[in-house]
Amino acid sequence: MANKIFIKTFGCQMNEYDSNRIFDTVKKIGFSKTSDQSDADCYLINTCHIRDKAKEKVYHEVGRVKKIFRNKKKPILVVAGCVAQAENEEMLKREPYIDIVVGPQSYHQINSLISNYKMDRKELTEFETEDKFDYLDRIKNTSSKVSSFLTIQEGCDKFCSFCVVPYTRGPEYSRSFEKIILEAQDLVESGAKEIILLGQNVNAYSFEGKSKVYRLSDLINELEKFTEIKRIRYTTSHPRDMTDDLIECYSKSKKLQPFVHLPIQSGSDKVLKLMNRGHKVEKYFEIHEKLKKISSTIKFSSDFIIGHPGETEKDFNDTLNFLNEIKFINSYSFIFSPRPGTPASNLDLIDHEVAKDRLIKVQKILFKYQLEHNESFLGKKIDVLVENRMKKNQMYFGRNKYLNGVIFDGNDTLIGQTVKIKIDKVNQNNLFGKIDPNSDMKAA
Ligand code: SAM
Ligand code: SF4
Ligand code: F3S
Repeated sequence: MANKIFIKTFGCQMNEYDSNRIFDTVKKIGFSKTSDQSDADCYLINTCHIRDKAKEKVYHEVGRVKKIFRNKKKPILVVAGCVAQAENEEMLKREPYIDIVVGPQSYHQINSLISNYKMDRKELTEFETEDKFDYLDRIKNTSSKVSSFLTIQEGCDKFCSFCVVPYTRGPEYSRSFEKIILEAQDLVESGAKEIILLGQNVNAYSFEGKSKVYRLSDLINELEKFTEIKRIRYTTSHPRDMTDDLIECYSKSKKLQPFVHLPIQSGSDKVLKLMNRGHKVEKYFEIHEKLKKISSTIKFSSDFIIGHPGETEKDFNDTLNFLNEIKFINSYSFIFSPRPGTPASNLDLIDHEVAKDRLIKVQKILFKYQLEHNESFLGKKIDVLVENRMKKNQMYFGRNKYLNGVIFDGNDTLIGQTVKIKIDKVNQNNLFGKIDPNSDMKAA
């Protein structure tokens, strides 16, 4: 049996979590991880289908692997993730170099797929979410990161007109409350100080236990009790599921960070309707107001799709006005990309140059507020949870409560601790500083 696996991950945090769990799984059949791709016996590409020429990128990547291994023994080539789900057996037909195609809900089958690949070039893209988590619940999560992801919910029933996720991740599924807490325990044991709860609609989490229905707020309250956990975050949430019990956590919890990633996609009610988002801009303002009332230190980030079919100049200006109202500290913005099989892909595209021009305008405003936010830390001492030593320049990397990256000169003993850093330089993406010599270096 081959024994070294190289995993290349594209896409969202859930793919990152999945790649770690895939590794926890294949360890059982004797694999160890390699960071040298040319040394792999098994090469796994965990793919994302959210935008652009996702499928072509995967075939391009396979071409690259072929080149690397031209004069060597071919690795077992596995395509996993959302493109695998969307394209299924087509991939095996089009590219003989691919051995296994496995969708996100079939990862519990990966060991038998790999063990049998010689007899059976195979595709598995069933939606067996419950079986998958049943299986994974029995395998320890060995992620040993200071800041660790923990999937609590997967899939989506919302069917936004532009989005492939309901087709690639399947229907909404919430994991058992108890099993999530046990996994958090594993993460804490291997050094996690921050837990980031994940879901495509993380705040739609709803698990029917024996005595009650557990929501995201219950998970936050339970994680709060772990002394080792210093910070709690969750992503990605949807405005429709921003319930009062969750909002209340921001006044009760000492560990839930005051930073809310809450995508809206557009500032125009007309476009939100076309997108089938199921709420109006007003709803977003209401949530914003409720949270700001709890604490003015709570900040927001969002996702925007620019140039969705039907977006007029007026709709676009509504988005610009919206940005100027909320002043997001960090947001993602993308030009609408038609995804095969989604309702919006049948609508007339707006002119690409117009869309590009709008994206530039949106990003100019987003980046201005982002930089202003970063500049507000200049000269200040802030709490930073130290995550790792950087590979390139021997500096250390951590994050403040708003998820801003902070780079400073430190040492290995600080990893996993919360330290005070005095910020002396910033750019749009990161803050830079020095350890405050007067601060107590013990974990806060
Ligand atoms: N569930 C989250 C929500 O409802 O906001 C979004 C999850 S999606 C994985 C991440 C982001 O990708 C979306 O918020 C959206 O901005 C972007 N996205 C999704 N489909 C897209 C498309 N067809 N074109 C451009 N961006 C897209
Ligand atoms: Fe996609 Fe909409 Fe579901 Fe988010 S809520 S994953 S954007 S369909
Ligand atoms: Fe991409 Fe699938 Fe995540 S499409 S963004 S990897 S859910």
